[in-house]
Amino acid sequence: MSHIVVLPGDGIGPEVTGAAVRVLTAAAARFGLTLTFGTHPIGAHALREAGSPLPDATLAACRAADAVLLGAVGDPAFDRAPREQRPERGLLRLRAELGVFANLRPAAAYPVLSGTGPFAAGHLAGVDLLIVRELAGGLYYGEPRGMAADGRSAVNTMRYSAGEVARVARVAFEAARRRRRRVTSVDKANVLEASQLWRETVEEVSHDYPDVALDHLYVDACAMLLILEPRRFDVVLTENLFGDILSDEAGALVGSLGLLPSASLGPGPGLYEPVHGSAPVLAGRDAANPIGAIASAAMLLRHSLGQDAAATAIERAIGAALDEGLRTADLAGGKPSCSCTAMAATIAATVSDS
Ligand code: IPM
Ligand code: MN
Repeated sequence: MSHIVVLPGDGIGPEVTGAAVRVLTAAAARFGLTLTFGTHPIGAHALREAGSPLPDATLAACRAADAVLLGAVGDPAFDRAPREQRPERGLLRLRAELGVFANLRPAAAYPVLSGTGPFAAGHLAGVDLLIVRELAGGLYYGEPRGMAADGRSAVNTMRYSAGEVARVARVAFEAARRRRRRVTSVDKANVLEASQLWRETVEEVSHDYPDVALDHLYVDACAMLLILEPRRFDVVLTENLFGDILSDEAGALVGSLGLLPSASLGPGPGLYEPVHGSAPVLAGRDAANPIGAIASAAMLLRHSLGQDAAATAIERAIGAALDEGLRTADLAGGKPSCSCTAMAATIAATVSDS
């Protein structure tokens, strides 16, 4: 028996986690797993309900879970709130408290979507990359940070220790061994000392992986090459903020940010969330793309519960739904052929029949 804590959060979060739970329930029945679910507030939802973006009870439930499935956090109503009263702070504290330092963001092109976006048909054929984003350090967490008392200057700090770089680098090299054995480490070592340390440390770790090819790119060049030569990438290893930015770019590459899942791993329970945000304009309209959340649920089965067959069945069912022509609004230039619920129902039915 495995207990999954569900944190729907804000905007389209409840709709996409609802879809993912529906598919997980179908997978559990099909593969003979016993899954229990508990739902807790986070983000703006939690701020309104409990006055904190990460209530103590939510954190305690996450710590005790086998895995955590999160929708999205963010609400424009809190744009001007102080840091501790922002929805995003709930997610950032949760990541820190769970110690999840390695964020895996796979982005593979679905052949059936070829030519539907701004890229020429064929340009994305065979694109299959994995961003390994450092998630516990860098600019997001470095001290000192803050706004000066007069509100006229502010500081953030990109700080890394060699140990923090080495542990996430190992995750990237291990992942590369299960893929095409290539790691591209992304930094800004021509300007930043934190990136010089990053590059030296990744080089050191690479000596333990002689079977994996390593190259280094500056983040600006990487942003360009992702567009020009997306097939050259296998595993992309990078620090927290660079990874945040490049993963949205990867979303555009494969057709929609709404497709991308993620797994955040550390010593305790894993945290699984789609890469997209709360998309307030789509909220409550049953129009969101649930595939990012459903694919995150597949990653949960694989990485936290060791259920590879169930994970693969979900991933195949996602591909089949797209092959059948199901398109939520983000994939259809405003002419959707299905709702969030309908997409989830189709994928769940395919998993049941698999
Ligand atoms: C993401 C999001 C988060 C991040 C926000 C919501 C704090 O953009 O998961 O990519 O910046 O990490
Ligand atoms: Mn992001």
